[in-house]
Amino acid sequence: MDGGRSFGAVREGAPLAMRTGDAEPAVGPAGSLGVGLPAPSKEEIEHYLTELLGRPARIASVERLDRSEGGKGFGYGALLRLSLVGEARDLVLHRAGTRCFGHDTPADRAYDSLLAFESYGSLPRHVRAVDVGSIDAAGRMTSLRTARDFFFFTEYAEGHPYHRELAAAAGRDRPIPSEVEHAETLALLLARLHQLRRRAPDLYKRRLRQLVGGDECIAGTLDGYDGRDLRGYASPELLLAIEKRCVRWRRKLKVYTARLCRVHGDFHPWNILFQGDEPVLVDRSRGEWGEAADDVAALSINFVFFALVAKRHFTGAMVPLWERFFERYLEATGDMSLGEVIAPYFAWRALVLASPVWYPAIDTSVRRRLFRFAARVLDEEPFDHRRIGLLLAEAG
Ligand SMILES: Nc1ncnc2c1ncn2[C@@H]1O[C@H](COP(=O)(O)OP(=O)(O)O)[C@@H](O)[C@H]1O
Ligand SMILES: [Mg+2]
Repeated sequence: MDGGRSFGAVREGAPLAMRTGDAEPAVGPAGSLGVGLPAPSKEEIEHYLTELLGRPARIASVERLDRSEGGKGFGYGALLRLSLVGEARDLVLHRAGTRCFGHDTPADRAYDSLLAFESYGSLPRHVRAVDVGSIDAAGRMTSLRTARDFFFFTEYAEGHPYHRELAAAAGRDRPIPSEVEHAETLALLLARLHQLRRRAPDLYKRRLRQLVGGDECIAGTLDGYDGRDLRGYASPELLLAIEKRCVRWRRKLKVYTARLCRVHGDFHPWNILFQGDEPVLVDRSRGEWGEAADDVAALSINFVFFALVAKRHFTGAMVPLWERFFERYLEATGDMSLGEVIAPYFAWRALVLASPVWYPAIDTSVRRRLFRFAARVLDEEPFDHRRIGLLLAEAG
């Protein structure tokens, strides 16, 4: 497939399931919490500044700037004032290193530092940012000041996109055996992913904030309806009512922090491929840890969506797939509180699917049914997948 080239840890000839990371990580998930944050040594800083300034830099004194002065109880990271021999102006080294209020992962900390570098210079009377960069695990510093875009490489995965399978099935009255098997496989895969738990209440609450206030989540999706023709499926009053109820759900779900678990974060049929009967995932979103109901809602609402698009009603082949998916997932996880927390995740996904921004070509009646589902599901406590017919029904 990749012509005999070898990409680091990817072993040529290894089965694809292995290449796509089927094995559980031997140690805790890399890259985010639970590791001490590195600090560069004085020598490293001198070495670095010598390159940056283009002349030998020697530190004359270092002063830690005190953030708690004046009664301020909290600050991010560490600030070091550096005086350099022979330099007129001192510099301040700002290290992002704190893990809360959304600074939890290296990606969060990169965001904050790059934003500061990008924005400080354009505000009159603000101190200038002279450089930005990263610190590796050994305390080595690398500049990112010339960066204008970012990239990452992934492996390419062959496979059949799951949305095509659902689209083909949705017009039929019954699913074929492989379609049932795939729905079950995805339920079991999620059960396995969600088995890994983490005790980090702040991360769970952060995810809830994102769910309700995030640009890609409820608030951002609702704003996508601004200026759109809502006739036949929604109204400004309905959008406001949904938003308000989602805010209430955020408060309500705060006591469920023990549910924090490993998630995919965008588990919908465009991010799932099947290689034969083996699923491969792409496009994990919003980090490693979250709420299992997010993944369950992201996939399962698509059984409803594809049925509505194909048949205008929730009927036909998608109905048994919905049932089997939930049955297998609940059997495998024994998750008794899923139904207590899933409503706002369903509402969010319904808002995305009904959105003229995301799905411009669907019929107004499909949008109307999705909105009806979003509005009603927010009153379902607890949600029971066997009541889906009632949530979509015309009257009531
Ligand atoms: N590693 C990959 N191997 C094969 N196909 C991929 C891979 N990454 C993405 N794709 C395909 O490209 C589509 C878009 O990529 P994705 O990473 O989901 O970006 P986004 O949804 O943010 O646009 C996916 O739905 C999938 O069909
Ligand atoms: Mg995607």
